[in-house]
Amino acid sequence: MKSNGCERKLNNAIDFMYFSDIAGFYNFRSPVFLVQNPECIKKMTVKDFDHFVNHTPFFSGDDDPLINGMLTVMKDQRWRNMRNTLSPIFTTSKMRAMFCLMNECFNESLDRLRENTKGGKTIDLELKGWFTRLSNDIIASTAFGLKVNSYENQNNEFYTIGLSVSNFRGKQMIKFFIATTLPIIKKILGYRIFDEEKTDYFKRLVIDTMKYRQEHKIHRPDMIQLLIEAKEESDQKWSDDDIVAQCFIFFFAAFENNANFLSVISHELMENPDVQQRLYEEAIEVRDELNGKPLTYDAMVKMKYMDMVTSETLRKWSLAGMTDRLCSKDYDLTDDDGNLIFKFKAGDYVWFPIIGMHNDERYFEDPDSFNPERFSDANKDNIKPFTYLPFGVGPRMCIGNRYALMQAKAMMYYLILDFKFERSPKTVKNIMDDIRGFQINPTGGFWIRLVPRK
Ligand code: HEM
Repeated sequence: MKSNGCERKLNNAIDFMYFSDIAGFYNFRSPVFLVQNPECIKKMTVKDFDHFVNHTPFFSGDDDPLINGMLTVMKDQRWRNMRNTLSPIFTTSKMRAMFCLMNECFNESLDRLRENTKGGKTIDLELKGWFTRLSNDIIASTAFGLKVNSYENQNNEFYTIGLSVSNFRGKQMIKFFIATTLPIIKKILGYRIFDEEKTDYFKRLVIDTMKYRQEHKIHRPDMIQLLIEAKEESDQKWSDDDIVAQCFIFFFAAFENNANFLSVISHELMENPDVQQRLYEEAIEVRDELNGKPLTYDAMVKMKYMDMVTSETLRKWSLAGMTDRLCSKDYDLTDDDGNLIFKFKAGDYVWFPIIGMHNDERYFEDPDSFNPERFSDANKDNIKPFTYLPFGVGPRMCIGNRYALMQAKAMMYYLILDFKFERSPKTVKNIMDDIRGFQINPTGGFWIRLVPRK
């Protein structure tokens, strides 16, 4: 193991692990190498990507094609083929077309808020619950072609099933824990991570919609449509299961992440009134330029301060705490002068600590403060490459980053135009201390007070 020679005093084993270029530890029974040196990360994930194409086997032993067929789980050439098939779905032009479907969902959410704040009434809102419904409706509409309004129809099937499959607590957590640490026990017990009746619901939904669209020649600018086209145009023979698996992973990646993203941006705006005011002023400028017309994709992309605020939120909150790779063939990691740093063996598990780097004062001064200026035109080039990785890194980075940013920025634009965000008596004092488990679910909730602006 080689220390990176930083000045900082190492207080404990965790510090030692983090402040070494490469450190090793056991994740229960699996040895893992933690690589935190940005140059090493660059080499392994970009230049020598061929040695680290796949993720570590997360759900090993699961024979459900819905799980094995997800892009995140796919391996090697099969992953490359699917990634090439899916990439055109997330281009700017496709996002632009999908934006109008998102707009419908924003309006439904905002109409409800406007209704509740009629006559200038303030309301206390639990953000996570509110944005989970929005996130649900958006993913139902843009990925599954299904129109639901989870504010009006609170217990709709898509929402309740979605909530239960994405909830990693209780029984689901234990099933997941055994599968990742003791896959042999999982095999003996013969269970599936996700209840079959729930995954069957998603399967039926996608397959029926695909069939209906093809038979009735219906076109809608959503992911199912794009997947149908991608399947037809690809020289690969993708099965229906392969396509359903992608909708499933899109659902998974978007449902929780998007709700978290919106919750933490709103929370930071509440905590930082100056930032909130500046963002409001930018939103007003854009609204005036649009002459009362709804926000467009292009106007949204041009909002510079919004981009700084969302970037800083993703730094401070690091929604993905780490990412990982599996070493697929023996690999000698060397520095720029060719000196050996470390020998990886095929089968080694590697983790990249995104959250560690985002909170490292060597890369981000005063990391606990929320400071969008880090991402201004004048400052952003000072960020050391490969230390800011909210969406992962290299050819395997998040495929849905544009989609996530588009949703969060547009919803914040609408919200901030209508409401001021203030502390509610129910707001937890220190939200970070109130978070339990792997998900961003503070036990006291994510409360905020919305004050209508007019
Ligand atoms: C703020 C929201 C999100 C964050 C922070 C996030 C973060 C990440 C990260 C860190 C990875 C791993 C990348 C790597 O290993 O280098 C990833 C992968 C992935 N994400 Fe996201 N993501 C978000 C939203 C989304 C959305 C909305 C979608 C889909 C619509 C999506 C789809 C995926 C997929 C399919 C992969 C696997 C890519 C592959 O293996 O080729 N993500 N995401």
